[in-house]
Amino acid sequence: MSLLTDEPLGPRVTVRAPAKINLYLGVAALAADGFHPLTTVFQAVGLYDDVTVSEATEWSLRVVGDPRLDLEAVPTDDSNIALRAARRLLAHHGMEHRAAAMTIHKSIPVAGGMAGGSADAAAALVAVDRALDLQTSDDDLLAIAAELGSDVPFSLLGGTAVGRGRGEQLEDLEDAGGWWWVVIESDEGLSTPAVYRAFDELHAQQGTEPDPHALELPTTLVEGLVNAQVDLVGVTLWNDLQEPALHLRPDLRRTLEDAGSCGRGAVLSGSGPTVLVLCASREEADAAREKLAGLGHERVTAVPAPVAGVHVVEHA
Ligand code: C5P
Repeated sequence: MSLLTDEPLGPRVTVRAPAKINLYLGVAALAADGFHPLTTVFQAVGLYDDVTVSEATEWSLRVVGDPRLDLEAVPTDDSNIALRAARRLLAHHGMEHRAAAMTIHKSIPVAGGMAGGSADAAAALVAVDRALDLQTSDDDLLAIAAELGSDVPFSLLGGTAVGRGRGEQLEDLEDAGGWWWVVIESDEGLSTPAVYRAFDELHAQQGTEPDPHALELPTTLVEGLVNAQVDLVGVTLWNDLQEPALHLRPDLRRTLEDAGSCGRGAVLSGSGPTVLVLCASREEADAAREKLAGLGHERVTAVPAPVAGVHVVEHA
């Protein structure tokens, strides 16, 4: 695919989308549709990708960002999820003949379990909608988002929400906290389908079935969020994909141990390999960050949560 060479045909719009984490991720047995029914508590955190779009005579895609990220792992061909989102939105309007030049500026870890690809898709939907003045309804954007991936609707919405089904059925959740998380990135990504497969294989090996109660939302977590009780939220953090991810990446066990030595609770983010530490304040998060750096963890950031979903940051 060519780089952006032609003159834009319309305004340039930049849309920002946050990373997500899962405070609770309960996974049930694989269903006939190839997905695992789940119940999750999503929170959007202050780590963002930006997608810039302007109408053009032909499609183009550029991926830029922090050189420490594994940018090579982001596809720049037609399989890129942000490009697929843009094309899908135009098809929805019967406008397959139009095209856009797109730049993705990444800060969210690639294949890190923080829904970076989903953030790019959500940002691309809104950026194309605004840049090409398509005036898509929110309901239609959410429906297209759900077709693109399980986490894309939440990337649009942001805040704190319960996700059911594949994660695409969302309900706002009351959250009185102003939380701080320390994010410990890994040098190498993990594939989400591979972690779900490991979840199935571990159960098969142990001769166990996934617990159907995993689909019940833990009331203690809801209580902790409503009353902004950091210690209660900290002890309730849970992720059914943590053991399967550790099976694929045993080195993460040490990261989780180090993470558990600071803050109020530690958990794997989504399908990993990113590890999270919940902290009571920005100061506590900064102290945890320094301690983890001292323990040899090189890519550690402190981020606030919850934050807004996709938002336009430039319309020029
Ligand atoms: O929806 P998304 O494209 O993010 O999912 C990627 C893969 O992760 C799916 O193809 C499936 O293998 C697995 N998955 C799953 N159950 C879910 C979500 C994802 O098995 N609820």
